[in-house]
Amino acid sequence: MTKRVAILISGSGSNMVSLVKSMTGDHPARPVLVLSNNPAAAGLKKAQDLHVPTGAIDHRPFAGDRVGFESKLQEALLAAHPDIVCLAGFMRILTPEFTQGWRGRMLNIHPSLLPKYKGLNTHARALAAGDHEHGCTVHEVTAELDGGPVLGQSVIKVTAEDTADSLAARLLPLEHELYAAVLRRFAAGDRTPVTLRA
Ligand code: GAR
Repeated sequence: MTKRVAILISGSGSNMVSLVKSMTGDHPARPVLVLSNNPAAAGLKKAQDLHVPTGAIDHRPFAGDRVGFESKLQEALLAAHPDIVCLAGFMRILTPEFTQGWRGRMLNIHPSLLPKYKGLNTHARALAAGDHEHGCTVHEVTAELDGGPVLGQSVIKVTAEDTADSLAARLLPLEHELYAAVLRRFAAGDRTPVTLRA
């Protein structure tokens, strides 16, 4: 049976676009909702242009009330009956109670070779550490931030000329390729990790 996929975004939504565009033909899933915590996220317009239903739950009125924000998020998600939820540049930390409810059904893409560099500023941290390789990871979401089982990684070489911006720019197309490849497998019930090298 075709899987229903909801995608959570906060900003430009380029990973979301890649996922949506991948879900055609014999792909085992279809997009049913793109939801953002930021009503001004550029990705919402991109999703509308791709004819995917969109929604926004602005997190700002819920300052200090993460549970209140998440209950609205959950309401919007449940209304779309997703089988799989993809975090794609969704920049809010989710509580263990929320992630537990989606355990085994929620994926995230993170711009580092996890378990290295959980959290923010991953490109700058890889450079500061003198790493020769950098990359991105798609993983299952668990209660631990950026800590769930790895489902795929893309690896790039770091050169002496690289900056945080150049790493981000070189990595983004690989993020798109990796996330689409992992989602296709995952939706078909296959959790074998995907490895891509530039
Ligand atoms: C991507 O690089 C993604 O890996 C990163 O945000 C960017 C979103 O870009 N996610 C995180 O840092 C999550 N901790 P996009 O909106 O164009 O897909």
